Amino acid sequence: MRTRPLKVALLGCGVVGSEVARIMTTHADDLAARIGAPVELAGIAVRRPNRVRAGVPAELLTTDATALVKRGDIDVVVEVIGGVEPARSLITTSFEHGASVVSANKALLAADGAALHAAAVEHGVDLYYEAAVAGAIPLIRPLRESLAGDKVNRVLGIVNGTTNFILDKMDTTGAGYSEALDEATALGYAEADPTADVEGFDAAAKAAILAGIAFHTRVTIDDVHREGITEVTAADIASARRMGCTVKLLAICERSADGRSVTARVHPAMIPLTHPLASVREAYNAVFVEAAAAGQLMFYGPGAGGSPTASAVLGDLVATCRNKLASTTGPGESAYAQLTVSPMDDVVTRYHISLDVADKPGVLAQVATVFAEHQVSIDTVRQQGRNPAADGVAVEQGGGGRREGGEASLVVVTHRAPDAALGATVEALRKLDTVRGVASIMRVEGE
Ligand code: HSE
Repeated sequence: MRTRPLKVALLGCGVVGSEVARIMTTHADDLAARIGAPVELAGIAVRRPNRVRAGVPAELLTTDATALVKRGDIDVVVEVIGGVEPARSLITTSFEHGASVVSANKALLAADGAALHAAAVEHGVDLYYEAAVAGAIPLIRPLRESLAGDKVNRVLGIVNGTTNFILDKMDTTGAGYSEALDEATALGYAEADPTADVEGFDAAAKAAILAGIAFHTRVTIDDVHREGITEVTAADIASARRMGCTVKLLAICERSADGRSVTARVHPAMIPLTHPLASVREAYNAVFVEAAAAGQLMFYGPGAGGSPTASAVLGDLVATCRNKLASTTGPGESAYAQLTVSPMDDVVTRYHISLDVADKPGVLAQVATVFAEHQVSIDTVRQQGRNPAADGVAVEQGGGGRREGGEASLVVVTHRAPDAALGATVEALRKLDTVRGVASIMRVEGE
């Protein structure tokens, strides 16, 4: 074993960084044996040096991150500060000074991954980022390496723990969105400003990274259709339950049938309770990968938190250190396929639509006509809600207890159709005099 240590600079020492520092110290001998040389924590850049960090050597702290990465003797920089700047500049400077980079920065990689990969190649160093997607769950390496000989057609998963916790609470307790968010905040799952999670930005960044690697093409966060969970109501969840479904925030990346394009999207969707993703509870993540030869693979585990994310960072640290010792680099960006990223309009999916309608003869026929005019085939129709006697009674079985001049709730579930056709159908339904309102629209997946 080489005795001269490999030097590591740590940028950021919050929940993840302090755990990385702790494990590097407590597992130093094992890490050295696995790498073939000791690894030494050479400096830790922080914004607030006076904050108490248990187990982190205070003498290594500095507020000058740029000077740390410019030292010239750093082998690997671990970036866990997040956000686009100053992370991007620090990573680029690290490359320029010969350091490989391990990053957990999904926002930066989803916005500017191609440029960062190019900079790493230019300077002959590694850029690894297993921790950027789904915490401890190995996903980047299996997609990049284990499945490098296969053809991935679909990646479908729950990649945000905060929103999964909120939706799970709504499902299991009947709570509304705000109440469930308050609980997620109190338990430390949701940030004080939960926008990145609840509006789907975090999941969209992860979807972009996964799609790019899975399909060997460039996908940025701007290519990802994004809807968050803030509009999901207790009524949506109850409606899903009546259909034998639950609601999850899904990231879905798909190759088109002709193989020439891909789509990437994040939105809440109903999935059947029998689907394995339905049983992913609390803040856990799970991702399905469908590949031509491998078939269906499922990756499951903790997608956030200091320790799980540190596990992924340390795995990358070992890999980049091994590469440094061997004077080589690992696989970089693979974007040779240059596929078109199609818009959401082209995605073929199913809708669950809940309408408040006038309860009088001919309304169902009017509604059905609008679907037919847009070439959208109806799977099921149920009348429920407004007239308690009719609740849950299938319309085709008699319509049950119609009140002249009253209102009824119609729940329509479609067959698969292009999202554009489904959206146009909803717009046309809104214009019908007999449709008093569109109470909810949700896609149905996983069947
Ligand atoms: N905020 C993320 C989540 C974890 O809730 O899953 C970091 O990506």
